[in-house]
Amino acid sequence: MNASRVVLGVSGGIAAYKACELLRRFSESGHEVTVVPTAAALHFVGEATWAALSGRPAATETWERVHEVPHVRIGQQADLVVVAPATADLLAKAAHGLADDLLTNTLLTARCPVVFAPAMHTEMWEHPATQENVATLRRRGAIVVEPAVGRLTGVDTGKGRLPDPAEIFALCRHVLRRGGLAPGAPERDLAGRHVVVSAGGTREPLDPVRFLGNRSSGKQGHALAATAVARGARVTLVAANTALPDPAGADVVRVGTALQLREAVLRAAEDADAVVMAAAVADFRPAEYATGKIKKVDGVEPAPIALVRNPDVLAEVSADRARDGQVVVGFAAETDDVLAHGRAKLARKGCDLLVVNEVGDGKAFGQDTNSAVLLGADGSEVHIADSPKEILADAIWDQVVARLPRAEPETGR
Ligand code: CTP
Repeated sequence: MNASRVVLGVSGGIAAYKACELLRRFSESGHEVTVVPTAAALHFVGEATWAALSGRPAATETWERVHEVPHVRIGQQADLVVVAPATADLLAKAAHGLADDLLTNTLLTARCPVVFAPAMHTEMWEHPATQENVATLRRRGAIVVEPAVGRLTGVDTGKGRLPDPAEIFALCRHVLRRGGLAPGAPERDLAGRHVVVSAGGTREPLDPVRFLGNRSSGKQGHALAATAVARGARVTLVAANTALPDPAGADVVRVGTALQLREAVLRAAEDADAVVMAAAVADFRPAEYATGKIKKVDGVEPAPIALVRNPDVLAEVSADRARDGQVVVGFAAETDDVLAHGRAKLARKGCDLLVVNEVGDGKAFGQDTNSAVLLGADGSEVHIADSPKEILADAIWDQVVARLPRAEPETGR
């Protein structure tokens, strides 16, 4: 990502302190960041902190340095505006085009991608007024990430936390990269779409301390979720035993076993435009679960482990599409004769697209890069040379978008 001009808007919520971490990440990666806090934000974090971390003055009102016409210039010159945290009040002002301070003026003059990372109490987030404002902003092309679930200010717990600043930064990086590809017209070609991504590897318990598992790290699935959020989608990430932080803006459903993953994927797929099965799902599970730890006994051979087949989730989703035109994508990890095995698997599973990875000798599992061939049921074949997993993720979404029926935009999200 080339250095860009970023405006960091900060509105008045306690999560303002987390925006310092976001600012540090932008600054350290060479971006020119102008911080525009609201007056309320300065109650939480003072001007001196923003100025010191960004290396530039932070202005709140349009009446400061008026000769530089900051209320117009800051927005016009930005490559990205990110508001973190975005309070219910700020979202309402943005949705209605109010312009009573520098941040709201900037939002009206910006022609670049705009990302809002809301943080507030669950009741405020769920209130129809806020939800309608969010829907309005999304319809106009802004990316409004779903808040994370967890501890809120005070004793409350629920949806409304600011996502991890590192994940907001990763999202902004995707948005800037996409914006860079198409100057002035960043593609949010998944706006109004709901996509489901499975990631990680299932664990099939044998007894309370042991399981059958696999080496999947979940990185490719997480990259798919993060890039889909950046392209405007509502994302459900079904994560099987991943140790990665939740991608900003995705709804994450955590699962353990193949059966749990099946249930979560089928439920989420009911209203999904696309389902991407990047998870490594165990084909077998132990036929019996021992409720007590299986003990070794001296002089006695251990009993063999009997296995039973797990359902094939990808084949099931492909055969029984919950929606007309739903696009289904599978993954295949092959060690040899990659294309022939891939074509056969594509036909067997009945999906629209199969992402075929060559694995073994340290390839793919746990790595940050991946090479793949994207095989289409229509006979297409796209080769992606060894690239970061997010580049492969975007290439997959390009293929998905090309296969989606024309948008019938969601209104509520
Ligand atoms: N998959 C699934 N349910 C399973 C097993 C796999 O949904 N029980 C999905 C994976 O998420 C992946 C694709 O199927 O998208 C390919 O999985 P893979 O294990 O390579 O395919 P198999 O049919 O098991 O083929 P083989 O064991 O012959 O390699």
